[in-house]
Amino acid sequence: MTNTVWIKHALLATIKGQQGPRSKEAMSELGLIEDGSVWLEDGRISAVGTTAELEGKYADRSAEAKVIDAKGQLVTPGLVDPHTHVAYGGSREDEFEKRLQGTSYMDIMNAGGGIHATMRMTREATEEELVEQTTKRLNSFLEHGVTTVEGKSGYGMNLETEMKQLKVMKRLNAEHPIDLVPTFMGAHAVPFEYKGKEDKFVDYLIDTMLPEVAELAEFNDVFCEKNVYTPEQSERILEAGKKYGLTPKIHADEIVSYGGAELAAKVGAISAEHLLKASDEGIQAMADAGVIACLLPATALYLREEAAQGRKMIDSGVAVAISTDCNPGSSPTVSMPLVMNLACISMRLTPAEALVAATYNAACAIKREDRAGSIEVGKQADIVLWKVKSYQELQYLFGVNHVQTVWKNGERMVG
Ligand code: NIG
Ligand code: FE
Repeated sequence: MTNTVWIKHALLATIKGQQGPRSKEAMSELGLIEDGSVWLEDGRISAVGTTAELEGKYADRSAEAKVIDAKGQLVTPGLVDPHTHVAYGGSREDEFEKRLQGTSYMDIMNAGGGIHATMRMTREATEEELVEQTTKRLNSFLEHGVTTVEGKSGYGMNLETEMKQLKVMKRLNAEHPIDLVPTFMGAHAVPFEYKGKEDKFVDYLIDTMLPEVAELAEFNDVFCEKNVYTPEQSERILEAGKKYGLTPKIHADEIVSYGGAELAAKVGAISAEHLLKASDEGIQAMADAGVIACLLPATALYLREEAAQGRKMIDSGVAVAISTDCNPGSSPTVSMPLVMNLACISMRLTPAEALVAATYNAACAIKREDRAGSIEVGKQADIVLWKVKSYQELQYLFGVNHVQTVWKNGERMVG
């Protein structure tokens, strides 16, 4: 039996509310309980209520539990990061300087750097080296209150290295406390040997890679972008993935408006990512089709671009999730707390919406809402105690890691 933990006297943001991706007013459903209490047992949440209620229920078992007095501080579910490229080799700080001097992200990529540079470093890295590097990042995610992380392949762009990345994620999902959810992203860039022959690479990806990677992945993602994959090529890849049971996701309208949001609605993607340049029609199509917008305000900041229109998307009825996009080029961060701050500052989400976007809606974007994203009986005991007295303060005091304690499956991991 694992630890039994009894958290008392917390301001509990349970995020309990409407089932399924939340949009409009439901994005503000925090399920707040003042002087709240949670009982964690065998890795699960066994009871949630006021401290007085749980004192009644557990009066004769209080000696069994490690009691934590939250002293009125905020307690939330473990944060969920639904979009990362966490399992990569090497580092690209040289490009950071180049970009500051004026070279664009896409120019660097088209000249063989960017994603191609990380592809080379990831191809060269052994499985052990990738496990070691990725473990450090996952540890840091935990320290920032994140207990579930999606991770994409896509720095191999050949069968061997895509499989290596997916195996690393499978291993870490088993060995590391964080739950790691695998996505195949073979269409992350066009490998140099296929420049001008993009359709040939799409054939290779569909005929050779998909049948092999499908057993190691749950989602299939494509960089649908001008000079990368067209909407037509992206659609072929995503439709082919569906035949292997892979759910579509799309890096859509990140650099230019390219019909990515519209395509997400057309293929029934669970989420569309980035959306900095999404068209009004695309936003409406996503709302109508129930596609979650996975917005990445740290990436926009890091690329010195205008953030996505988060406020407008919520007002248009789109369910919004937020994520770090943790990757070595456009967003080298693991800080979901910073991403929540930025969601408020640069996309005008309210503090409550930002919290739902980083928990329940994020879990929906990776099909984990049955076990993560809210504090409800039966779910995994993934809980964060924050050094703040309100959820507004969590979003207001920005750029700081307010984590005090993190429990993952009921085990104390941080603090
Ligand atoms: O989500 N846009 C494409 N992919 C990543 C960046 C990957 C990289 O630069 O290494 C993104 O921003
Ligand atoms: Fe990304």
